[in-house]
Amino acid sequence: MSTTPLAPGASPAEATAVAAERRWTLVVGAIIALLVLMMVVTGLHWASMPPSRVETVDVKTLHLRGEFVESNLGTALDPDGKVVVRLVAQQYSFVPACIVVPAGMPVTFRGTASDAIHGFIVGRTNANTMLVPGFVATFTTTFHATGEQLMPCHEYCGTGHEAMWARVRILPPQDFLVRARDGERLDCVAR
Ligand code: CUA
Repeated sequence: MSTTPLAPGASPAEATAVAAERRWTLVVGAIIALLVLMMVVTGLHWASMPPSRVETVDVKTLHLRGEFVESNLGTALDPDGKVVVRLVAQQYSFVPACIVVPAGMPVTFRGTASDAIHGFIVGRTNANTMLVPGFVATFTTTFHATGEQLMPCHEYCGTGHEAMWARVRILPPQDFLVRARDGERLDCVAR
């Protein structure tokens, strides 16, 4: 490493200080360069490879045809034994507003939004997602305790946001299986 020219008559202590300063400048410069490189690489990576499993849905025909028509919302026990909850979020409610699921069985949620970005979390469980218009959010989870949980919207979606919530009723699996027959769509909305 070349030495910085010092003022004539500089002491050896000053020379050491300048050398240390120089080394430090190089180290900091290398750290900054590494951080910038990481940002560039991850940015390009995400731009070139969108997240996998992106599923789109046409907002304009959401209520008219396809998976998210009203008669298909709620909880279904598929012939292969899978439990699937389908729901739609809109300003300012979830459809259905009361969801029935079994405890101790994997439950797959499939949801979307019809107007703004919404989201939900079920009580203190790890069931938590955003619902974005035009996209299907899906995840699978298992509820361990029976009982009722609140499911609030957790993305600010307008003036009615804080009043937007649903309930999730978690039944013992045998009770759920008795109710869920013939591919019916279940919910617990009072009628
Ligand atoms: Cu819907 Cu906040």
